[in-house]
Amino acid sequence: MKVFVTGGAGYIGSVFVETLCDAGHEVTVFDNLSEGHRGAVDPRAKFVLADLNDRNAVLAAVRDSGAKAVVHFAANALVGESMTNPSKYFRNNVAGGLNLADAAVAAGVRKFIFSSTCATYGPPDRVPMDESLPQRPINPYGESKLMFESVLRWYRELHGLEVVIFRYFNAAGASEQFGEHHRIETHLIPNVLKVALGQASHVSIFGTDYPTPDGTCIRDYIHIADLAQAHMLALQRGKSGVFNLGNGEGFSVREVIATCERISGAKISVVEQPRRPGDPPRLVASATKAHQELGWKPRFPSLEDIVRTAWSWHQKHPGGYA
Ligand code: UFG
Repeated sequence: MKVFVTGGAGYIGSVFVETLCDAGHEVTVFDNLSEGHRGAVDPRAKFVLADLNDRNAVLAAVRDSGAKAVVHFAANALVGESMTNPSKYFRNNVAGGLNLADAAVAAGVRKFIFSSTCATYGPPDRVPMDESLPQRPINPYGESKLMFESVLRWYRELHGLEVVIFRYFNAAGASEQFGEHHRIETHLIPNVLKVALGQASHVSIFGTDYPTPDGTCIRDYIHIADLAQAHMLALQRGKSGVFNLGNGEGFSVREVIATCERISGAKISVVEQPRRPGDPPRLVASATKAHQELGWKPRFPSLEDIVRTAWSWHQKHPGGYA
């Protein structure tokens, strides 16, 4: 199948493109490289360097790709930044996405798969979190993703697009070739592994007074290869709907740090800091719907395996894609 992938030079997109190419699909990657890296684009894919806000470029690229499916990873995804620059989030994640959805309709694309987030729920009333929870985002990042979910619901209804919306929990890990390299790194696992590599003196723990067993926030870490696999299943004709993607098990910040210490063999110095604004205490997925309706089964559900693949990639690429 011909598949059009935005954000294919980014962390999760790069591994999905690799998976598509391995399966023999014909891939066009569309990315403005503001967050992504040219070196993260699988050489088997065609690459278009352009911005989603350039409407004519998006229309032409989707049309020229001949794609039957569009998979939309490209986004700004920093919660903190969205609180100080909401315009950037609404412009790129909503208005940019709208150009892409229009291009998909104009080109007669059948399937549209969208990377949404558990941040659309806001702090949940209960965990594990299933798809029926109310969506009450507490930052512009989560709100921008929710707004684009709504756009797609209407496009499904009015234009007959087959839409799959994935709400990711905490993406982590790496493939042999592709891993996590953000120019500004805010995520826990890569920040801990930087200490293990000797590139940072310590990792900060943001908040030690949460109502959790060890006082630090709990998250559900999911391997990017498993995220990629869910997208492969979603490409099948007839599959549509909203699905949470996580392992259904939560780990605290301290547990993640301890796991990184075990895997790397390095001592990780920590500095306890105040809470980071916008962090809910506990986010854990129920992915039962994805298991049942897509037949999705994560292959790397253990945190040890997730961290091991991330550590292996960071050791081989100490400077990331630089
Ligand atoms: N944390 C630290 N120290 C760090 C980095 C993070 O203690 O150096 C803590 C955070 O405060 C949080 C946990 O580790 O409690 C996980 O933080 P991440 O930044 O790794 O990920 P988030 O849980 O904040 O992820 C959220 C949403 C995702 C979204 C992402 C965007 O859950 O859907 O923000 O960056 F994509």
